[in-house]
Amino acid sequence: LQRIILDTDPGIDDALAFFLALASPDDIKLEAVTTVSGNVGVEETTPNALALLTLAGRTDIPVARGCSLPLVREQVKADYYHGHNGLGDVARPATTMQVVAQHAAQLIIEKVMQAPGEITLVPIGPLTNIAMALRLEPRIAQNVREVVIMGGALRVPGNTTPTAEFNIYADPHAAQIVFQAGWPIRLVSLDVTEITCLRPQDFAELTASGGPVKSFIRAMIDFHLRKPRPANEVPLFQMHDPLCLATVFQPGLITWQPVYADVELNGTHTLGETVAYFKADEAPGAPNIQAPVAVDSARFIKLFMERVGKA
Ligand code: BDR
Ligand code: CA
Repeated sequence: LQRIILDTDPGIDDALAFFLALASPDDIKLEAVTTVSGNVGVEETTPNALALLTLAGRTDIPVARGCSLPLVREQVKADYYHGHNGLGDVARPATTMQVVAQHAAQLIIEKVMQAPGEITLVPIGPLTNIAMALRLEPRIAQNVREVVIMGGALRVPGNTTPTAEFNIYADPHAAQIVFQAGWPIRLVSLDVTEITCLRPQDFAELTASGGPVKSFIRAMIDFHLRKPRPANEVPLFQMHDPLCLATVFQPGLITWQPVYADVELNGTHTLGETVAYFKADEAPGAPNIQAPVAVDSARFIKLFMERVGKA
């Protein structure tokens, strides 16, 4: 059983990661959720997190609000993709749940330091809160179990600029702090998430019957399917954040290679590019991340359909 903190900017695929985590009680203990600005601002992602937990009947899980702005750069959003409220503009389910008093970075520090070697951080949004936590309490680097990040594009183009993936682009300075913290990182990058998709018929099958969680998924995916796209484009849904979550407890879904990687902060056209040295003899440093080199997408899709199918 992996004890995790989900650091998130919900987000349609973030929401699917929530539902997978909550549908996996034998594998995942969701200790806390921390929110951050990313896909939309933290003033939206925080009520989104509360609403998602309420929808799934898990109002017992603490939610802490995190950073509203990136460390250095100006804010960028992905509301063109996730809708103005972050959840495909589907009405947020009502909730009376409240955030805890602590800041996200403080809650992360408290949980990690209280249980040395036990807590896995799972950031599926920009890395602002994680970098803040490292700066406030650097010893979390020695006390975390692992950091499993959705972010980056190592050997494929970016999805936000030609070279940068959204979560890294949205706060590249935070990402660099996190990459260079000397703690165990697995990076679930676009290289594997972009090719791990649910098809419209999968969502139709998944949501054909069931309760409020399924109806909510259906409505979010309808938003995705309605978006204008080129006539020949199949509306696949890329499972970035849920794949990341699944590899926490099934690392074998991905084949990993230790590499040295860093985040570009000075490029003219390449801010937020994740540069990985797959050839060890070229690397300026020792490996600091586990990079994905292959993924068993079919096995992941089966797992997701089975587990969230029961929701
Ligand atoms: C990442 O960016 C966000 O839009 C998604 O939620 C995911 O975390 C993919 O690049
Ligand atoms: Ca996300």
